[in-house]
Amino acid sequence: DWTPDSFVDETVNNLKEQLGNDKVVLGLSGGVDSSVAAMLLHKAIGKNLHCIFVNNGLLRKNEFSTVLQRYEGMGLNVKGVDASARFLEALAGESDPEKKRKAIGRVFIEVFDDEAHAIEDVKWLAQGTIYPDVIESVSVSGGPSATIKSHHNVGGLPDYMKLKIVEPLKMLFKDEVRRVGASMGMDKELLGRHPFPGPGLAIRILGDITSDKVRILQEVDAIFINGLKENGLYDKVWQAGAILLPVQSVGVMGDERTYENCVALRAVESTDGMTADWVNLPYEFLQKTSNTIINRVKGVNRVVYDISSKPPATIEWE
Ligand code: XMP
Repeated sequence: DWTPDSFVDETVNNLKEQLGNDKVVLGLSGGVDSSVAAMLLHKAIGKNLHCIFVNNGLLRKNEFSTVLQRYEGMGLNVKGVDASARFLEALAGESDPEKKRKAIGRVFIEVFDDEAHAIEDVKWLAQGTIYPDVIESVSVSGGPSATIKSHHNVGGLPDYMKLKIVEPLKMLFKDEVRRVGASMGMDKELLGRHPFPGPGLAIRILGDITSDKVRILQEVDAIFINGLKENGLYDKVWQAGAILLPVQSVGVMGDERTYENCVALRAVESTDGMTADWVNLPYEFLQKTSNTIINRVKGVNRVVYDISSKPPATIEWE
């Protein structure tokens, strides 16, 4: 029978046998999957696991430093690489969603590859791929959805790196990954995190990306997410976030007429992201959140709540 404990024992033993004294490199994202994969490998091979955590400048507010500290606290051999400027440069002036994704994927591989090359004699690339990623990448490569969105989590390895791949979570679903993490004593907050897309806030800023827009969205997002946590709503939601719209509208502040940005809030219920329903958040919570955002975040004078289900809408706006 499958239990998280037996999965951990068996997987750690297999990894020890498979990897021996080899060095392994793994990209941490701050999310559940890569973190649990890292922990399993850490148990198996300790310091021979070299983790790389890249700041693409499109993470949530304070995410890079908080998450990096958490990883260090877990005893992981981790290197934080702040490549924000490089990503923003590659994105400058680009408004097309797929081109934004491709630019981010390309720069990520460049940055990761540089770091991986700096590790002497590394033999393996570990990935936090889970079962639904495997399924999705198969269906995406064949079906009409191929052109809808290119997820860059799977197959992000440049040929010339020639590393062998190890994917300890490949057969697991998300809830099983969380249970495996819990059985290794991993932080509940880390395991309960909402999914967050690889391209980060870039696909929640409609149109082109600037550091000002990123900063505005980070502030809005932090108010929304912290509000969900403070009001006991975070765990009732599968995924939530804010979207910066390329729309200005008229408002009034004191005696002044304003012409500022509009943000959309999105919170969905789902089990796998394939279908989703918008969450019926309490009006009072929405009211408070909207007021806080408009009062505190300079450049935003209007907040809307997205009440679209998937399908036909998607979770992200791009
Ligand atoms: P959609 O917008 O397709 O999103 O309904 C479904 C789930 O996938 C995430 N998502 C992405 N994740 N790279 C990722 O790593 C991407 O390009 C990407 N696009 C969407 C989205 O956040 C949701 O969880």
